[in-house]
Amino acid sequence: MDFFLDSAETQEISKFHELGMINGVTTNPSLIYKSKKPFRELVTDICAITNGPVSIEVTASSSEKMVEEGFKLAKMASNVVVKLPMTWEGIKACKILSKNKIPVNVTLCFSSTQAILAAKAGATYVSPFIGRLDDSNIDGIELIREIKTIYTNYNFTTKILSASVRTKNHITQSAIAGADIATIPPNLFYDLANHHLTDKGLETFNADWEKSGQKIL
Ligand code: G3P
Repeated sequence: MDFFLDSAETQEISKFHELGMINGVTTNPSLIYKSKKPFRELVTDICAITNGPVSIEVTASSSEKMVEEGFKLAKMASNVVVKLPMTWEGIKACKILSKNKIPVNVTLCFSSTQAILAAKAGATYVSPFIGRLDDSNIDGIELIREIKTIYTNYNFTTKILSASVRTKNHITQSAIAGADIATIPPNLFYDLANHHLTDKGLETFNADWEKSGQKIL
């Protein structure tokens, strides 16, 4: 399973990139707004930190304008992935951009039928928002399972990118359900290496080693 960082903070992206643990980055207009940086500069900076795919979302609502924005975004860096909303206009734009070999991430996916449309339109990625489904008392992981089964049945090559991931369990369950990628917010990413039993175990090992009075070096 690949891990993307769901962030528009260049410092955070650099940190995780240095750890060698991220395969790409996803952003959205809300994250870009929070970063308070000029848009073009921010996109260039993020795309220079990682060689992996960087999803940048269009803001237009008509397919024509989405395509225009998509071409513009794709020119900003070779690793830009154009993020399009899961609307009919987004699907029309997805077909055109994908035909022009521009990778597309269809975002705000909340149902299997939406995921089928994204795949048929040639999307490179589809982003089911599992946390927001859970918020509405609908099992987000079940959606990942359905999409995986459907994509496998029909040999669709669109990658399943679990998004709106809020917990470690979301990541584990997405992996079990066969998602190709999870995009993870920085705080949750930091927490992935933690376990209280690891801390407790290390404390005991260190204390016993201290008592032994021995040295490795
Ligand atoms: O990847 C999508 C993400 O940025 C949205 O997450 O937690 O706002 O639903 P959330």
